[in-house]
Amino acid sequence: MKKYVLLIIIAFMFSVFNLKAQSIDQFFPEEELITTGMYYYPEHWDEKQWERDIKRIADMGYEFVHLAEFAWFKMEPVEGNFDFAWLDNVVALCTENNLKIVMCTPSATTPAWMRINYPETFRMDGNYIRGENGTRGLNSLTNPKYREFAKIIVTKLAERYGQNANVIGWQIDNEPPALEDYSPSSQKAFRIWLKNKYNTIDALNTTWGTAFWSQRFNSFDELIIPNTSLVGWWGNNPHALLDFKRYLADTQAEFLDFQAEILREHILDNQFITTNYTAKCTGSDPGRTEKLDFATYTAYPNYGSDNIGEIGFRLGDSKVILFASEYYKSVGGATGVMEMQPGPVNWGGYNPLLLPGTVRMWLYHSFAAGGKLACSYRFRQINYSSEQYHSGIMEPDGVTPSPGGEDYMQFMKEINELRNHYKPDQEMPDELANKSTAILWNLENYWTIDRQKLTYQWDTWNYPIEFLEIAKSLGAPTEVISEETDFSKYKFLIAPAYDLVDSALTGKWKDYVSNGGHLILTCRTATKNRDARIWEGNWAAPISELIGATVEAKDMLSNNKNGDVVMKNSHYNWNNWAELLNPDTDTEVLAVHNNQFYKGKAAVVQNKIGKGTVTYIGVSTDNLKLEKDILKDIYSASGASIMDYPQGVYVYWRDGFYIAVNYSSDTYSMNIPESADIVVGEREVKPAGVLVWTE
Ligand code: GAL
Repeated sequence: MKKYVLLIIIAFMFSVFNLKAQSIDQFFPEEELITTGMYYYPEHWDEKQWERDIKRIADMGYEFVHLAEFAWFKMEPVEGNFDFAWLDNVVALCTENNLKIVMCTPSATTPAWMRINYPETFRMDGNYIRGENGTRGLNSLTNPKYREFAKIIVTKLAERYGQNANVIGWQIDNEPPALEDYSPSSQKAFRIWLKNKYNTIDALNTTWGTAFWSQRFNSFDELIIPNTSLVGWWGNNPHALLDFKRYLADTQAEFLDFQAEILREHILDNQFITTNYTAKCTGSDPGRTEKLDFATYTAYPNYGSDNIGEIGFRLGDSKVILFASEYYKSVGGATGVMEMQPGPVNWGGYNPLLLPGTVRMWLYHSFAAGGKLACSYRFRQINYSSEQYHSGIMEPDGVTPSPGGEDYMQFMKEINELRNHYKPDQEMPDELANKSTAILWNLENYWTIDRQKLTYQWDTWNYPIEFLEIAKSLGAPTEVISEETDFSKYKFLIAPAYDLVDSALTGKWKDYVSNGGHLILTCRTATKNRDARIWEGNWAAPISELIGATVEAKDMLSNNKNGDVVMKNSHYNWNNWAELLNPDTDTEVLAVHNNQFYKGKAAVVQNKIGKGTVTYIGVSTDNLKLEKDILKDIYSASGASIMDYPQGVYVYWRDGFYIAVNYSSDTYSMNIPESADIVVGEREVKPAGVLVWTE
């Protein structure tokens, strides 16, 4: 009997996993590698130009068109009066031109009548000022009236296009931001959220530590959203603010799921449902949604920053796609870029011309990391309104491809060539699999550290991403994962500045290491419990046994002072953050402090547990030089072969293809076997260059 039950459970699990795997392939056949599309806003242009534009999109090689994202005003020009005839025409034009469609729900921009007649549908900022219509994402997600209107428009769209076989999928909303909302409907929703979480006001008072500065509440009715705009950051409560962030992220996720549920009722099974998060998304937490098939991201790597070397400012920030292309796979196991910057934008600190080929390199980067779709914001550069000066794939004349448009055409032509070289069921070579690396990520750590940075030098967002970059420079296949993931899939697990922990997580870390995993923890890890409360113990008490040391204290210097750490006779500078470690007798000390009054104290330690190792890097050095050398040693000691790619040169493997991109200002000579078959590019990978080969 028991055996029978077990078999059913196994069969069920298998079918669930299979279903998921199948569904991604069902949306994106593997042999097509990636599908490329284009944002087109018919509502911005004279109707007489639609046919010309859509034909042009098809002729250039695009495979789908992204429609209707901000067009609520045109679908419901007057409350309750709907007009889809114009969209029907555009959909028909796409079909005639063999273009598939990604249809969008327009909830991010509501029509003027809604603001006039129902001002409560807008969020309130920290000064209790209502949003206005005229831009994206300012509605109050908890407002019942807004929900009612959103439900109607999404239902209408789903009923109209959900059975159209030419529609391949749906994008919900636009760059869902989980913005702070202090409106009455949000206040009410926050109270309900808290009541569900804490049940009693006493439990909340204890967790929030409301004994401090007379913050105590007598009942949930007394609660208002903690407001840094009015109280000032020093007067705010970190536990309350963490809960506010969680509530906002839950609310955003629930709003996406709310729309997804409506869509699913009406649309074909093989139409996907997704949304497009910003690459750097500090508010929304994609893992909180339950009804999306996968998540996509928007990528604008060139926003006016110096980047790598002399011409790096033309190439863009290499970390944007590096991170987003891994992070967003955590929903549904696949991702793609929904908006790829087409050229200079209008909102960067300054907006330089891109080095020719840069957009193509970004596209390849996103593809290399496993991207299933690539799409650009937007086809035509607009001649009017807020995004004047923002490039498009077409110049302002509407008919001449911009340099970004040329890059796209080349990319799409080359992808067709790669499709011809595609061989199914390719397994990742052992040499790569042996250094598989995961970065453990939880947005809650960002929320809690970023508002208590303690030093102006701490870059909360990029600190974990720097470790992703180091692993990439060693040639490791990398992923960004959450705590629910099975850690045993990875040889190396890096949890940078992982502030909030509980015993379930530390236990999982210990099991991972005991079974042979190599865990790398860094400073600022395990300083608090999940309620953001500091331990009544040493600074990282719950991981002391794991790392074989206690954390005695933490130090910070100004950026004109010099901290010195020594490892194997090499000196490393730091002034950002350092910890003073007290190792247990069996713990190996890898690096020690070499100046300041605590000279001789341990800065980095390594502990062996079972078949694996735990390394605790208690210092953040300039340019993460020490961190990189430590990782090199850990990888080598475990038998993994390591590379030493320069900064901004990334090499990936997917579906049997090796793909290299170069964000640096120097040509990189790629060392590939003589027998390798080069499919795209050349061994000498120039800045903004790409090389694709098979072995
Ligand atoms: C994105 C947004 C687009 C467009 C673009 C301009 O963040 O999703 O709608 O405004 O920026 O760069």
